[in-house]
Amino acid sequence: MVEFNPEYYARLDESDDALFYQMPRLVIHVDDHASGALAEYFAGALPTGGRVLDLMSSYRSHLLGHGGHGDVIGLGMNGDELRQNSALKSGLIQDINKLPNLPFADAAFDACILSFSMQYLIQPIAVLAEVARCLVPGGVFFTSYSNRLFPTKAVAVWRSCSDAQRAQLIGQYLNETGAYDDIRAEQLVDAASGHDPLYVVTARKRSA
Ligand SMILES: C[S@@+](CC[C@H](N)C(=O)[O-])C[C@H]1O[C@@H](n2cnc3c(N)ncnc32)[C@H](O)[C@@H]1O
Repeated sequence: MVEFNPEYYARLDESDDALFYQMPRLVIHVDDHASGALAEYFAGALPTGGRVLDLMSSYRSHLLGHGGHGDVIGLGMNGDELRQNSALKSGLIQDINKLPNLPFADAAFDACILSFSMQYLIQPIAVLAEVARCLVPGGVFFTSYSNRLFPTKAVAVWRSCSDAQRAQLIGQYLNETGAYDDIRAEQLVDAASGHDPLYVVTARKRSA
């Protein structure tokens, strides 16, 4: 068991996140190959017809148009990015570093995706506990990461980890909540392929 101490969550830029995200970034944050691999993965893994929360959402959700999932609700920091995300039924703005409590009912979603953003959370365990509250029992959480980041906004512990250690770190965050089972990590794209690497960590909300 790792002790999480406040220094782990220090950032080079501790200014208000709203400042950093006030300008829309209409980009996909990984190369097309990794985004496409994630979309294919989601098409096979998301529950058919399931309601999906895209947490820390932006301009794209890495979902296939014909993915078979149900409505997708986005929560992020920039209204222009969310409005231009065609996968979203609706989007809302909330700084979850300031307010980790999510504005959704218990069991409102069948799945939650959090893509390329875990490194920006300064209260990851509180946020992941909230995700569990918003998932149905047995609902699935998917987080993905690559080797890109906004370095000034990523927490110290993330910056100090290798790609493989980041999967362990996410697993520890999830374990700390006490709300998830079946925590797994897999690499979907190897950097040796010449593309951005892609890793996915998944967990299932405990049924009881
Ligand atoms: C690298 S982008 C990834 C966006 C999107 N998930 C994707 O896969 O393209 C990081 C995103 O994290 C979100 N984010 C960062 N800090 C946040 C905060 N404090 N509260 C809520 N969302 C935040 C922003 O909306 C930003 O678009």
